[in-house]
Amino acid sequence: MKRIVKNALMSEFNAEVLATDSAAAAISLIEHENIPFNIIVSRNKLDEEASALTLLNYNYDRTPSIPIIVLGDVEFSGSNYIKTADRFRTEEIFRHIIDLLNISKEELAEIKLPEYIPVPIEIFIRSKLTICDVYIKISKKHDPDQYVKIMHTNHEINHEHITRYQQKEVTHLYVKKADRNKFFDSMIEQSVAILEKQDLPSNVIVDVAAEHYGISQNLITQMGITPHCVKLVNSSVKAIAKVVQGHTSLGPLLKLLLNNRGSYAYRHCHLITLFSHRVLNIVDWCDEKQFDQNFEKISFVAFLHDITLPEDQLVQINNKLDLYKLNLSKEKKDLVLNHANTISTIVQTFPKAPSGADIFLRQHHGVSNGIGFADTFVSNLSIHAILFIVVEDFAHHLLNFKENKLTMSEIFIKLYQRYPLPSYRKIVDALKTMIVGGM
Ligand SMILES: [Fe+2]
Ligand SMILES: [Fe+2]
Repeated sequence: MKRIVKNALMSEFNAEVLATDSAAAAISLIEHENIPFNIIVSRNKLDEEASALTLLNYNYDRTPSIPIIVLGDVEFSGSNYIKTADRFRTEEIFRHIIDLLNISKEELAEIKLPEYIPVPIEIFIRSKLTICDVYIKISKKHDPDQYVKIMHTNHEINHEHITRYQQKEVTHLYVKKADRNKFFDSMIEQSVAILEKQDLPSNVIVDVAAEHYGISQNLITQMGITPHCVKLVNSSVKAIAKVVQGHTSLGPLLKLLLNNRGSYAYRHCHLITLFSHRVLNIVDWCDEKQFDQNFEKISFVAFLHDITLPEDQLVQINNKLDLYKLNLSKEKKDLVLNHANTISTIVQTFPKAPSGADIFLRQHHGVSNGIGFADTFVSNLSIHAILFIVVEDFAHHLLNFKENKLTMSEIFIKLYQRYPLPSYRKIVDALKTMIVGGM
């Protein structure tokens, strides 16, 4: 049992656990080893020795006392201890430890983090300096992973090395847990600063935003919505919107996006933002202020809607048939089926997200609960979701232009067939106007 408890505490709290076979040995450790113990866990009896009572009495006279958890029943009138049932469960011990040590939710999350935190390699591409040591992971078949230092604190980043790692398909480098906040602060500051530069040409903004998409994706899937990720997402969404607003004619920007080397996921986000902007102008739903709010919301949703899907192949799926044709593993299939609901829930923790963005995200495949894909498209979705669904479909057609070899008029025939309801047709009409007018 000693081993079970020891292993459980080590894995749950990353704790260092010292185990003894008697109360006397434990007291001797505490007295002589000069180790600051946070907590003592003891059986009520060890063989016939009343071990818990011995420890409780010892601790009663000690300042400061150390919180004790007794496994099993014990009669003692002092404080700073908790006893468990005889047939305790490890979760119960965990709960008592959290209570006795007054560990907050945030502290607990911190404790549970591994010693080395993975950081997406793209984060180094545009940054000049790293403010802490950076490591690479060497995985061994039978031994634990090794972390080898490759950059020192305040080291100038060698971008050639980074490219070489990428060519070897290294996707992450690592920093120590204690360094992670200041590391992300500094790296994201450097990345965001690039996008805030005045007069940056559109092609550079598109490249940087495409890298930021990959970094945001990593941050969100590994850590959820953190202040760093909020900063990165907000600055990227703004930059993409600015590019879209800055191009009055469609052709050059379309060419730039279709030829961009970034991921399919990123390019389809940018295209959706572009087409939504134009469609909003054409359908003329609202006054200028509402226009800005609608566009802001759509740009935000476009950037995030598929961000939990790690592969371009999964991003391209927009109906049930495509999903089943791909023969994915159960895990991937579930990821795709649930992605609209997942991102909707994640975004509920995003500070100052545009209002209703979560509902919109949940509906982006035409299903109100965000699970799966619509069989038929219904009209009781938000008007934004309807616009988004049609515009996204159109974006997929353009990105797959070379493989599918459909002409523009064939694409429109397909869209009219797929979306017979008037609220959807109106969006198809607007897209057609946009293409004909080259807007
Ligand atoms: Fe999508
Ligand atoms: Fe999606």
